[in-house]
Amino acid sequence: MHQATAGRPTHNSADRPEGWWKSSVVYQIYPRSFADSNGDGIGDIPGITAKVGYLHRLGIDVVWLSPVYRSPMDDNGYDISDYQDVDPLFGTIAELDELIAELHSRGMKLVMDLVVNHTSDEHPWFIESRDAASPKRNWYWWLPPRDGFEPGGEGAEPTNWGSAFSGSAWKLDEASGEYFLHMFSPKQPDLNWENPDVRHAVYEMMNWWVDRGVDGFRMDVINLISKPTWIGDGPVGPDTKYSSCFAAIENGHRLNEFLAEMNAAVGLSERRLITVGEMPGSTIESARAVTDPANRELDMVFTFEHVGLDARPGGSKFDLHPLTLPALKQNLNAWQVGLADVGWNSLYWDNHDQPRAVSRFGDDSPEHRINSAKTLATVQHMHRGTPYVYQGEELGMTNTYFTHVDQYQDIESVNYHADAISLGLEAETVMAGLAAKSRDNARTPMQWDDSLQAGFTDGIPWLPVNPNYVTINAAAAEADPNSVFHHFRRLIELRRTHPVLVEGRFKLLLPDHEQIWAVTRTLGDQVLVMVANCSSEPTMMPLAAVPDLAEAQILLATHGPATLERLEPWESRIYLLDSGNDLAQPAP
Ligand code: NOJ
Repeated sequence: MHQATAGRPTHNSADRPEGWWKSSVVYQIYPRSFADSNGDGIGDIPGITAKVGYLHRLGIDVVWLSPVYRSPMDDNGYDISDYQDVDPLFGTIAELDELIAELHSRGMKLVMDLVVNHTSDEHPWFIESRDAASPKRNWYWWLPPRDGFEPGGEGAEPTNWGSAFSGSAWKLDEASGEYFLHMFSPKQPDLNWENPDVRHAVYEMMNWWVDRGVDGFRMDVINLISKPTWIGDGPVGPDTKYSSCFAAIENGHRLNEFLAEMNAAVGLSERRLITVGEMPGSTIESARAVTDPANRELDMVFTFEHVGLDARPGGSKFDLHPLTLPALKQNLNAWQVGLADVGWNSLYWDNHDQPRAVSRFGDDSPEHRINSAKTLATVQHMHRGTPYVYQGEELGMTNTYFTHVDQYQDIESVNYHADAISLGLEAETVMAGLAAKSRDNARTPMQWDDSLQAGFTDGIPWLPVNPNYVTINAAAAEADPNSVFHHFRRLIELRRTHPVLVEGRFKLLLPDHEQIWAVTRTLGDQVLVMVANCSSEPTMMPLAAVPDLAEAQILLATHGPATLERLEPWESRIYLLDSGNDLAQPAP
C-alpha cells in the first residue's frame, strides 16, 4: 500500500521562479555511501537529514538523491521493485518527508532519481508480465528465440545485443520459452514505452512524487526508452560476440514525443520542476532538441562525450586511452557553442558512475591534490550551465585504488573482470582498467572526520573507507579556510553575486594549448576571465592571447599573489574586468 499524500503540503512551485535551476548548484548524494545513522554500515535518509546543515554551509541549492526506492539492490537501487516506497535499508517514507521538509525549510530543493527505462524483475509489473497470457505481457520486451533455434540454445537470443553489464542483453524465461530484454543486469528488464499504459503508469507515479513535494527528477538513461522499430543484429567488434545494445537503441525515434508527453502529463515545465536527462550517446543535436524550451521536454541533459575521451575509441570504458587537455576542452567547448542559443548544459566531472575527478583529470599526489581539485572546480563552474557536485568532490576525495578483485562490489566491475579474464585479457591490464574506472571509486564512504570509518558509520561500512580519510575529511576541510571545500563554497557564492557566471556568453581561448585552460564569460559590461594551468608543471601564460589583465580584479585564485604571466602547477585564477572599458575586449 502506498501512503496517500492527502492532507500534506503539496508542491510549492511558487518557490520555483522561472528558470531557477540555471543559477542553482546541484549536489548529488549516493545514499548508500553518504552517512549511516543506525550502524548497519549503509548510509540512510536520517543520516542525510543530519547533514543538511553541512550542505547549507557549502551553499548548494538542490540535492539530487540517487535511488532510495524499494529494491533488491542488484544495482544498488537502480533496480526498483516499488516506485512509491522507500527501501527499509534507507529508512521510511516518513523519514524522506522529513528530509524534504528540512531541505525546504532552508530554501533548498530535492530531486529524485527517476529510473523508468527498466524496473527490477521483482517489480509486480514484471512478475505479472512473466505470464504470457497476462495483460501486462507487453509492458516489457518479450521475443521468441531466433528463427530455427530452440529456447536456451547457443546463439538463440533474439539479437546479438550485449548488455551494459556484460553478457547478452536477453534472458530466457523458461516458463514461456521467450526472452526478455535487459540492457543492464538480467534483474533490470526494460519497460516497453510503446505501450501507453506503461507511460501513463509512470506519469501517475511522477505526479505522486511531485504532490509529495519533490522539486524535479534526474532521469536515468532516459534516451534509451524509445526502442527501434527494427530489432536485429548489430556489428560485432574483435573482442566480443555481442554488439552494443546502446548503439542499437540510443535516442530512438519516439524519444522527443515521449518526453513531451511526459512533460505535459506531469506539468514539468508548468510546475517549474528541474529535469535532467541522463543521455549516454547523446549528441549536441539530440541535446538541443531535448532542451529547447520551445519543445517542452527537459531542462538539460548529462552528456557522456567528455567522460569517454580517456577510453579507446570502439573499446570498453576500461580500455584506457591517454587524454589530452586540448581534446577535453575542445569537447566541452563544442557543447558550449552548440547549446549557446538554444537549450542548457549540465556540468559535471564526477558522479556515482565515474571515477573521482581529482584522480582522473587532476593529480591526486599529495603535492598537487588540493590545487588540482580546486582548479577542476573552477573550470567546471566557469562553463555555462548548471554545475553538479558529487559527494566528496568538494573535499577532493580520490580514487580508492583497490588491489584485489574481491574488494570490488559493483556489478559492472565484477562482471567486467570475469568477462575480460575469460576472453584472455592480462589480469594486470584488467586490474589497471578497474583501478582507473571502476564505479566503486566514487562509492567509498563519504569522509566526514578522522575517527574510525571516517565518521561514516559506527559499524562496518559496506565498502571500505579510503585510508586517506585521516587527512581528507569534511571536518578538517571546514576548519581550513584554504581547503577545497571553501574553494567550492566561494565558487558557489560567486554564482550568486555575479550573474555573469550564470548567463554570460562563453568563449574558449587558447584551444590548442597543452597546459592552459582559459575562457571568458561576458554579460553586458562585465567580463570574467579564467586562466588555469591544468598540469603538474609550471607554465607561462601567452599574454597576447588573453585580455589585458593588468587592471583586472582577482575574484578567486588557488594561489597567493603572483606575477601575471607565470602559472604554478594547477594554479588558476578568475579575473573580473571592470565595466564598460576597453580592457573587456579579448585579443583577436
Ligand atoms: C545509469 C545509472 O547512473 C547507473 O548507476 C545504473 O547502473 C544504470 N543507469 C542502470 O540504471
